[in-house]
Amino acid sequence: ERLTWSPVLVEKGGFKHYMLKEIHDQPGVLRQGLESHLLNAQIALGPVQELYPQVEQMQIVACGTSWHASLVGQYILQQVAQVPTTVHYASEFRYAPPPYRPHTLTIGVTQSGETADTLAALSLEASRQLTGTPWLLGITNRPESSLGRLVPYVIDTRAGIEIGVAATKTFIAQVTAFYLLAFDLAYQRQIITQEKLELYLANLQKIPNQLEWILETQTPAIEQLAYQFQEVQHVIYLGRGINFPIALEGALKLKEISYIHAEGYPAGEMKHGPIALLDKGVPVIAIATPGTVYDKVLSNVQEARAREAHLIGVGSAANSEIPDLFHVNLTVPEVPELLSPLVTVIPLQLLAYYIAAHRGLDVDQPRNLAKSVTVE
Ligand code: G6P
Repeated sequence: ERLTWSPVLVEKGGFKHYMLKEIHDQPGVLRQGLESHLLNAQIALGPVQELYPQVEQMQIVACGTSWHASLVGQYILQQVAQVPTTVHYASEFRYAPPPYRPHTLTIGVTQSGETADTLAALSLEASRQLTGTPWLLGITNRPESSLGRLVPYVIDTRAGIEIGVAATKTFIAQVTAFYLLAFDLAYQRQIITQEKLELYLANLQKIPNQLEWILETQTPAIEQLAYQFQEVQHVIYLGRGINFPIALEGALKLKEISYIHAEGYPAGEMKHGPIALLDKGVPVIAIATPGTVYDKVLSNVQEARAREAHLIGVGSAANSEIPDLFHVNLTVPEVPELLSPLVTVIPLQLLAYYIAAHRGLDVDQPRNLAKSVTVE
């Protein structure tokens, strides 16, 4: 039975702000998300599974943090399930949709289920599908929302109500939904074996404890860094591959709550423009976890080092190159590359939080922002 949540029922649980509480809720959110979508070691996502045999491609519409979760989703759907997938800003899609193609599953990702642009993009897509049940899947934290009434298929992310305007735990929950969707699809279509599926799930189930480890051990270093960063003007976030969206999300968190200019870039693209911004002491935060593009990220970081940037690495403890290259290391446990966004995002959320808190800002209700934007 799902609890009926209301802001009055939710307490800050001893934390100074809801956002900090919600960051700390994430291990539990992930455990709960996995538990509620796994039945007898099988992935259970409901009726959307009936569409699997016919889906030829996917397109995802979303805004803000949900758009970043969608980019992680795109990576997993393409690389694991081999389904061609595009991601669109909902506000762009609604006025310039790609040509209609049958056998396309359209996924709307919105934690609130009330974002006007996302709903409009989905309605537009529904109007293009003339017969039968529209192929619209919602990934949301509020299945009872307007989104829930608009789409026939829903994955409920079950993160519990999120009060902080800057999304944290709902991001983790959305990304988890994408893992389950992609793993399930890949297995049902015999792209991966049952052994492989079980391995993916076993690794996913280890992540909550690994998130706890980050929260317990890395907070002091992050707080200290946040003190140093209180007065910075610009921060550059670099990531590649599956961690490029995490660079974007780290930058968005910082902008939203600390009002510091931040940009996320795919590390290989730095030489095509942003490198001109680098100068002595400009903070560059690079996600450098083991995997396909690990060496590439390190060589991109070398380029920033040559410009005397202040280098912060989010990397795994097991990698000895890291301590020498970066001025500050934020350590995350070593996990399979495919799952790394779940761990790399945590230090970036904490860093944004502590910078804003040290600056004395209203972390839970940043200026000019609303939790959900229900007008265009
Ligand atoms: C607002 C919030 C963002 C959020 C975005 C999308 O702009 O301030 O934090 O990511 O809406 O919200 P949704 O509810 O659609 O995920």
